Amino acid sequence: MTVLSVQNLKMYYKTSAGEVKAVDGLNFDIGEREVLGIAGESGCGKSSLASTLLKLLPSNAEIKEGKIIVEDADLVSMKDSDVRRNVRWTRIALVPQGAMNALNPVFRVGDQIAEAIMAHSNVSKADARAKTETLLKLVGIDPARGRHYPHEFSGGMKQRAMIAMSLALNPKILIADEPTTALDVIVQAGIIRLLLSVKDEFQTGVILISHDLALVAQMSDKTAIMYAGKFVEYGASKEVYKNPLHPYTLGLLGAFADIRKPKEALTSVPGSPPDLIDPPSGCRFNPRCPYAEEVCRTDEPPLVEAFPGHSVACHFWKEIRAQRSQKT
Ligand SMILES: Nc1ncnc2c1ncn2[C@@H]1O[C@H](COP(=O)(O)OP(=O)(O)O)[C@@H](O)[C@H]1O
Ligand SMILES: [Mg+2]
Repeated sequence: MTVLSVQNLKMYYKTSAGEVKAVDGLNFDIGEREVLGIAGESGCGKSSLASTLLKLLPSNAEIKEGKIIVEDADLVSMKDSDVRRNVRWTRIALVPQGAMNALNPVFRVGDQIAEAIMAHSNVSKADARAKTETLLKLVGIDPARGRHYPHEFSGGMKQRAMIAMSLALNPKILIADEPTTALDVIVQAGIIRLLLSVKDEFQTGVILISHDLALVAQMSDKTAIMYAGKFVEYGASKEVYKNPLHPYTLGLLGAFADIRKPKEALTSVPGSPPDLIDPPSGCRFNPRCPYAEEVCRTDEPPLVEAFPGHSVACHFWKEIRAQRSQKT
């Protein structure tokens, strides 16, 4: 069953220099207990997408087009106050990027979670406390630690506490934006295991956002590769990881090595994502693409299904694939 359906979603920021096209025509569906991973470098619009899905947007942001369908209701046309009341926390919850630093240093962690629960539901203080203990246990924190202050928590524990808070009202979709960034590898693995267990225990769909494609591909059912506000590749995670089709995906996987000097092979993609006020014409990746031809500078490649369930937006995916398979 589809719990979230996103159709041609566009969200731009107004700035004095022009419109920043941060989310520029995205389409995807998420089913119950499905994990969608979204990977791409910093500045590609991942966090903007996350906040758009909850309409948690700054005043200069505008949803230009598209639909965000949750249980037959379109959040784009819904009043913000209704989204706040009926969707956030209960249908879709977000653990924002850098969330673990959002805990207030002067309040006990357990109290902060209980406060959040009371702010978003009609429960007594005692019930909120009890719920907090259950949630802490569920995310692997001794409920007694709820009496401690944020500075007494490790980074991993703070992240667990934020995940606990986000689950307070049994959301259908949990969005975790860079949940493991700034954590060491072992703690990262624990957080990932936690998110996967949450998915089974709460029957929650998960959107996992990270700049780390290997991590995303490992833990998601489907992976979307985001570049300059668009999905350039989308498919079953195994396919995207093992059989990457878009040059940007190849770059993220360090698979440009064969066409560049060995020394450069360590950096994944040379250059940086474009200015989203005035992105390159044609394919937005063309200035960084080792395979780019004239048509890439003039015509934008549509996202097309290359194989069943595996889509790519590149004029030359077939040629690149053929060339790569010759080499191996
Ligand atoms: N409030 C804002 N006003 C204008 N531009 C913004 C705002 N927030 C983010 N951006 C721009 O939107 C683009 C996408 O940013 P973001 O969604 O944070 O990317 P990511 O999460 O992939 O790193 C960037 O160019 C960023 O500078
Ligand atoms: Mg981000």
